[in-house]
Amino acid sequence: MCHSPRHENEGQGQVMANYPNASQPIRVLVSLALLCAASWGHAADHAALPKFPPKTTAEAGLIRGESVYKRYCVLCHGVEADGKGRAAKQYDPKPADLTRSPFPPAYKEMIIKRGGEAVGRSKFMPPWDQELTSEQVGDLLLFLESIKVN
Ligand code: HEC
Repeated sequence: MCHSPRHENEGQGQVMANYPNASQPIRVLVSLALLCAASWGHAADHAALPKFPPKTTAEAGLIRGESVYKRYCVLCHGVEADGKGRAAKQYDPKPADLTRSPFPPAYKEMIIKRGGEAVGRSKFMPPWDQELTSEQVGDLLLFLESIKVN
């Protein structure tokens, strides 16, 4: 932001008034320094950021679970977890609608860790136990429970 030409121009009138005899490059430098100081002050205002909940709470697990989902599952299961991801049309059977899955968390944990083929389903549901830690899978299960519509 400090390097944006738009911002260089803003406030220059004020700086020129303060330093009427300064040469043009100096005026630009002073104006940039003032703008940088102003934006730093703003960025340092941490009080405005929401606090992440304590890591052992279900709330924190849910936030982590959603981010694991977005990283690893969206491509097939979709942003809405309705099974309509960008790659979904390549597969038959289609990736499951995870908002309407009839299965309990223990089954979901099994298919997530071991993959579809190991549980007699599509081999295109990959096994995730080499990529994800048990904590990540636990967080995913929390997230999947939270998005169920029925
Ligand atoms: C490459 C595509 C692909 C990716 C990526 C993928 N899945 Fe799947 N998933 C599938 C397919 C296809 C099925 C359906 C299998 C079937 O019906 O035989 C499935 C089924 C499932 C099921 C069974 C649900 C039900 O109701 O039958 C769960 C749970 C699941 N996936 C969770 C996940 C999670 C969590 C991730 C991310 C860690 C993920 N999947 C990533 C393709 C994918």
